[in-house]
Amino acid sequence: MRGFSLPVCLSVVLMLCSTTSHAIDPAGYGQPGGEFDIRIPRVPAADLAAAKRQTPPIAATPEVLAEGKAIFLGRGTCFQCHGVEGKGDGGAAKVLPIQPRDFTNPAFKKLRTPGEMMWVLKNGSLGQSGKVPGTGMLPIVGQFLSEEDGWKVLLYERSLGGGD
Ligand code: HEC
Repeated sequence: MRGFSLPVCLSVVLMLCSTTSHAIDPAGYGQPGGEFDIRIPRVPAADLAAAKRQTPPIAATPEVLAEGKAIFLGRGTCFQCHGVEGKGDGGAAKVLPIQPRDFTNPAFKKLRTPGEMMWVLKNGSLGQSGKVPGTGMLPIVGQFLSEEDGWKVLLYERSLGGGD
């Protein structure tokens, strides 16, 4: 997808998801609220330990969080699916077969390490089984955002869960 802008790719993904959403039957697969089981890692088992070992090279200072928020609401286009407040209720979420993560759930950042989130930003999310294609969560870092911007935006997402 190199060479295309993120908004263009986003609209293609949404078009594909809206036409294929019923090809993937989410029955019995989700959990209340429309998100998919938060307890199941999104990183395939073979890569999980290495992903967890990866730690952010920058601290979540107020400046970094402000930059992360600007990316989330701006050129990262994260809000389109994850919602302006990060609750997973963005306008584009309606057509997705798997609902975007609600980052305001304090349980999220207890279950997920920053390194696992970076893996998803680089590789996209295949969903909780690791086999379901087309969750709508595309590989973004390396395609549209630098790794540093990826860390900033994921630190911002984690801050939405409150606490430290
Ligand atoms: C086209 C819609 C869409 C866009 C745009 C999008 N996401 Fe997602 N995102 C999703 C969906 C759907 C999931 C849930 C996938 C799953 O449950 O496996 C998700 C999951 C994630 C996860 C993994 C959550 C977990 O359970 O480990 C992270 C991290 C994430 N998104 C970050 C971002 C960031 C950062 C941006 C912007 C740079 C972004 N997303 C943009 C749809 C989107």
